[in-house]
Amino acid sequence: MLLRQISLISCLILASLNLNATAKTQQLTAAVASPDQYGAQVAAEILRQGGNAVDAAVATAFTLAVTYPEAGNLGGGGFLTLWFNGKAYFLDYRETAPARAHRDMYLNAEGEVIENLSLIGHQASGVPGTVMGMWQLHQLFGSKSWPELLAPAIQLAEQGFIVPDKAYLYEGDMLQRFAGKTNFVAYFGKMQPGERFVQAELAATLKRLAAEGPSDFYQGKTAELIVAEMQRGGGLISMADLAAYQAVWRTPLVTRWRDRQLITAPPPSSGGIALQQLLTLKELNQQHFQDVAHNSAQYVHLMAEIAKRVFADRADYLGDPAFTEVPSQKLLAPDYLARRAQEINPKAISATETIKPGLESEQTTHFSIVDHAGNAVSNTYTLNLDYGSGVVVSGAGFLLNNEMDDFSAKPGVPNAFGVVGSDANAIAPGKRMLSSMTPTIVLKDNQPELVIGTPGGSTIFTSIFQVINNLYDFNMTAEQAVAAPRFHHQLLPKDQIRMESVQALAEPVQAELTARGYSLHTPNWDLGDIQLILLNQDGTQAVSDPRGRGATRLIAASPSQP
Ligand code: GLY
Repeated sequence: MLLRQISLISCLILASLNLNATAKTQQLTAAVASPDQYGAQVAAEILRQGGNAVDAAVATAFTLAVTYPEAGNLGGGGFLTLWFNGKAYFLDYRETAPARAHRDMYLNAEGEVIENLSLIGHQASGVPGTVMGMWQLHQLFGSKSWPELLAPAIQLAEQGFIVPDKAYLYEGDMLQRFAGKTNFVAYFGKMQPGERFVQAELAATLKRLAAEGPSDFYQGKTAELIVAEMQRGGGLISMADLAAYQAVWRTPLVTRWRDRQLITAPPPSSGGIALQQLLTLKELNQQHFQDVAHNSAQYVHLMAEIAKRVFADRADYLGDPAFTEVPSQKLLAPDYLARRAQEINPKAISATETIKPGLESEQTTHFSIVDHAGNAVSNTYTLNLDYGSGVVVSGAGFLLNNEMDDFSAKPGVPNAFGVVGSDANAIAPGKRMLSSMTPTIVLKDNQPELVIGTPGGSTIFTSIFQVINNLYDFNMTAEQAVAAPRFHHQLLPKDQIRMESVQALAEPVQAELTARGYSLHTPNWDLGDIQLILLNQDGTQAVSDPRGRGATRLIAASPSQP
């Protein structure tokens, strides 16, 4: 254990970035914005009891694994951006492809993608990273004991939580999606809005994790249950895969934006590079945005022109840096972005055929936390789509991810879900699949000003981009910035603007976009579930997206604290 801790610390020295900040000594109002009330309540309690942002994050992640089963998880993975004692860190606990995975594993004899194989059932899962991620985070930055941080989740699993109204499950489509294909219905079919839902197997798993740490999950009884589940359904994850899993401390992507610094996700997420490109391309086209109204047809068009270029780069160049050379510096180089900025046509739609393609998937979850000392956690984690593969580890009571679908099932060809990618994101044993998760912290004068993130697959970074514009360019309040209608364009489908059903763009804007040659698409799900904390001259504000069932808490500094 000590050896592991020492090697982690040496990785961290490489992975952290000292931005010459002095840690704040003055006690701030702490805050949490969580995708549900249980996560918010648990984080607030930990902060109230003197825990730091990392303690609160670990406890919240395990809580959401109980109360937010569509995306909170033990069987998935994620990314976490951290600002701690004046330094920036990034933790990659993304899933990996099992050793028996191979490039063509989702293709039939004719070389065509087999429908749903990478999405539903045992073969859809990558090796989970969440438990190792939370452990490594806790070992290096936590101030409370590991069992203390798992206690709230154990209690909620053992005694149950009240199932909320806002969830896709209750519309029946999730039950239909997995019925007859996985054991999902046997575990989650009884969830009823307004009723208490108890998860006894999950409580037992969490108790083992509390007592034994990650060795239970990666080598012990839980590992055996995962592998037994895999064997029941032809899945690939082995004991060796679990034992080999490592979370990775990476150097965060830190860039200057106006008079601020943006700390965000490096590869294997595409999100940080994409967000930087979006912000810079907009900055370089400032003259075209002059006097352009928020969410007007011209605004939507300009944003789509920018997003097109970003998604083209994403499809061609991005993947796991351990397997593919990601030209991060070139993609963010001022001369490159200046050239790309000039390609943007303010008057008409650039022909899709002249720009290389890219697109991706949807459900995930995010929470943001700031503690009294100004340390900040921005964490996005996921099972990929809602309820992941639909496979519950029998005897352990948790869902496994369907993250393998984030690879390109067949490079250059859209897979069953419509993903387009290249060799950079082809399947290989041990490789991390490309992500769009973009947990981000904006610094002003070397202190966190904005902690932000959202689920939404490929709409993650375009959603964050729009909220940043709403805040900094349209001077909206934090609530307005998060609530404002969002839209999305990602190069393919050609000339398509995705809108939200409830918060659709205004009708005259829709008519003008159609007249310009765009087609409008309104899926029955919203664009993201932003969880945001803003720290400015008005103090600490926390906002949960009204699109979701999130909750916020502000925790005033206790008068006894210095
Ligand atoms: N599974 C969604 C993402 O990582 O982008």
